[in-house]
Amino acid sequence: GKTIVVTGCASGIGLETARVCKQWGATVLGVDRTMTQEHVDALYKVDLTDPAQIRELLRVLPAGIHGLANIAGVPPTAPAEVVLKVNLVGLKALTLGLIPKLADGASIVNLASLAGFDWANHVSSIHAAEQLDFDDVADFVATHDAGDANGRSYFFSKEALVAWTLQNRWTWRERGIRMNAVSPGPVDTPILGDFVQTLGARAEEDMRVMDRPGTPADIAPVVAFLLSDASGWIRGTNLAVDGGMSSHLLSNLH
Ligand code: NAI
Repeated sequence: GKTIVVTGCASGIGLETARVCKQWGATVLGVDRTMTQEHVDALYKVDLTDPAQIRELLRVLPAGIHGLANIAGVPPTAPAEVVLKVNLVGLKALTLGLIPKLADGASIVNLASLAGFDWANHVSSIHAAEQLDFDDVADFVATHDAGDANGRSYFFSKEALVAWTLQNRWTWRERGIRMNAVSPGPVDTPILGDFVQTLGARAEEDMRVMDRPGTPADIAPVVAFLLSDASGWIRGTNLAVDGGMSSHLLSNLH
């Protein structure tokens, strides 16, 4: 079986992904800031806003990992700096640091969001964030449109994550390591209310269009598929799992 690292394994989509990966025969190494042990073979308690804790995690994780599911994330109601650190800077630090411990042919899956849908209209900010490190986040938030207003930092974190995933489609090609993103619409987890609060009336309109919010069970098998060899020729893609919401947003088509 494969060894899969799942961040955000203590709740919501990450918890269900850990469960599905185990069901599919994997050994699951969970990473979260909380200590839930469900569905994981080992749990690493790490705060992904802290570069020292990420470095320590990278030191203690075993080599030969076949998959990394970057699922930990915070909602738009969290402070902008925390959003950018967990959803983008910490995710990238963990991923880039883990490359030497990945097995050839490994698969990386980044949990982005429908919130990252509009990435192509924010390319200059995305470029400005390419080398962003933990120490620069406060300054970046103050000087770019990734500031806090209306949860913009969350949208930006996901836009930049989608772009980063697409940009790195060939980066580890020689070792057969591939990376993809999954972009859910609103999913019924403990943070759904945070999105509804941020989006206001638009959230209700979105729910009407989609018939219902997603559930972790709508998302986790897609992540597990992208981690599996069955998806071996899918790379650099951002897969929407959103009840049709992203195609609805391309409203000039219909
Ligand atoms: P959740 O709150 O149920 O789970 C998030 C997990 O990440 C929690 O276990 C939490 O402890 C962990 N986490 C947060 N900050 C952390 C930190 N600093 N260090 C380590 N772990 C940390 O949320 P959910 O909904 O399962 O979210 C998972 C991912 O899906 C997130 O990246 C989120 O942005 C994304 N997403 C969620 C949607 C939704 O409507 N729920 C929609 C689209 C994307």
